[in-house]
Amino acid sequence: MTQVPDPPPEPAAGLDPVDRLLIDEMPPAPGRLLVLDAPELANALAAEHPVVGWCDSLLAEQRLRVPVVDPATATVDTVLMRTPKAVGALGEYAEWVARDDIALLAGGRVKYLTHSMNDALAARFGSVRASLGRQKSRVLHARQPRPGTPTWPRRATVDLPPALGGPLVLSAHGGTFAGTRIDPGTRVLVDLLDRLPAATPALDLGSGNGTLSALLARRGHPVTALDESWAATAATRETLAANGLTGTVRRADGLTGLPTGSVPLIVCNPPFHVGTAKDSGPAYAMIEQAARVLEPGGELWLVFNAHLPYLPTLRRRIGPTEIVSRHPKYLVTRSVRG
Ligand SMILES: C[S@@+](CC[C@H](N)C(=O)[O-])C[C@H]1O[C@@H](n2cnc3c(N)ncnc32)[C@H](O)[C@@H]1O
Repeated sequence: MTQVPDPPPEPAAGLDPVDRLLIDEMPPAPGRLLVLDAPELANALAAEHPVVGWCDSLLAEQRLRVPVVDPATATVDTVLMRTPKAVGALGEYAEWVARDDIALLAGGRVKYLTHSMNDALAARFGSVRASLGRQKSRVLHARQPRPGTPTWPRRATVDLPPALGGPLVLSAHGGTFAGTRIDPGTRVLVDLLDRLPAATPALDLGSGNGTLSALLARRGHPVTALDESWAATAATRETLAANGLTGTVRRADGLTGLPTGSVPLIVCNPPFHVGTAKDSGPAYAMIEQAARVLEPGGELWLVFNAHLPYLPTLRRRIGPTEIVSRHPKYLVTRSVRG
């Protein structure tokens, strides 16, 4: 029988200068690799190395073609990662992997690298140095791990008036939006929660640290919280638990998978960034998804920066939309599914 030769390997798709620099700066014998927040890099390396991966973002994780592991317990020798946007996330990742003789390489675009990133790594590694860099990218090399007591997740108590149930404990991981604070836009929406239809099952879309989920649960709404970030869903679960509240929390890409016309109430402070870039795409996608999953008469409450032009889309895609609050910086809108 004629043997058909294997096709030549595909050129690694989607590698950018940061990924290529990480590959070129890897130790000569890197051993077992753990790749964080860099699915294309993990997939490319898997052709020649034993590779496992993990991503904060569900959308990124869905692109991984290597086993997904718990970074804090996986048996590995070298960790490669893209520097996350939040320094706190870098610090938390360093805490997870600072053990045994692990070497950590964190690559990023020079314009986003800061000295506080070196400090975050130096909290858990005895030696941290930056490479010379290439094509506006650079790698931080961390060696000599110093395991220690985890400092993440962090917790803080925020003061809220008795009408909102009094002080609220917020939990956050390094990459959780707004950390252990209430985002100023969310704070505007919080003051309007008594205007929502009472006790209606509520969906907190993009739940972050769980502020809205917790306050909705306090008001007696059965709550479902969705976010595509691990740091958000973990924080939301912890915030609910810390306040003695319950809810269903899921890592999900927007409202994907929810049946059409099934949801009576959505509250949302939509994302306005993708990575480090301002981007309204995910917010428009959420409005589109809400139009599909809201039941007739169902309501979408949205808070967003006042300059963002979401109103025409809300009116066209969801239905009648009123401005419930006109804060100098934020608008809160209520759209009713037609
Ligand atoms: C502006 S923050 C609001 C967080 C929180 N609700 C608050 O008020 O502090 C937007 C949230 O949307 C999440 N997010 C971004 N893209 C998403 C997507 N495709 N599906 C679900 N959540 C998403 C982010 O991870 C982030 O937690």
